[in-house]
Amino acid sequence: MKSYNLIALLIAGGFLVALASPHLHAEANKDTREVLKLTSQQNASVRYEMRRLLASVADIVTALDNNDFKAIEQAARKSGMAMAAQVEVTLKERLPMQFKKFGKAVHVGFDEIADAALAEGANKDKMISLLGKQLQRCIACHATYRLE
Ligand code: HEC
Repeated sequence: MKSYNLIALLIAGGFLVALASPHLHAEANKDTREVLKLTSQQNASVRYEMRRLLASVADIVTALDNNDFKAIEQAARKSGMAMAAQVEVTLKERLPMQFKKFGKAVHVGFDEIADAALAEGANKDKMISLLGKQLQRCIACHATYRLE
């Protein structure tokens, strides 16, 4: 009787997994993120900036692998607040306030990584911890907005 119950439980469990799986796919297939209404030029400029952010992340990881803290500082600084200052006023005007908040948090985060790389007692663990927090900031904005 006990083993009969166990089999019943396994079958029921299997049904639950089967029910849940298509649901997961459905989640991935529908995009409920807010669309940013930008001109095609502004769209291209946001995407260009994104690729520079990703390049900074890649360069930071490579520099980290080489224990080169000066190179970490340089890679991070490139995407710091100085980069945000280059964004055109007309684009800034079109972006939602929350988007700009997410953006600022990422630029400030890169400056923090740059400063931490040069700070006394800088080490790999500290840098990885900051980088993990930084990637969460990328994810937060990506989960909220998309381009057309
Ligand atoms: C302020 C919001 C915001 C932040 C912060 C942000 N992104 Fe993005 N990113 C976007 C949006 C919106 C898109 C377009 C996504 C879409 O349309 O599906 C995008 C697209 C991208 C793309 C694709 C670029 C292309 O050429 O199409 C890359 C790569 C990217 N982001 C990297 C990053 C990285 C790395 C970070 C963090 C260091 C980051 N982003 C932080 C909003 C953001």
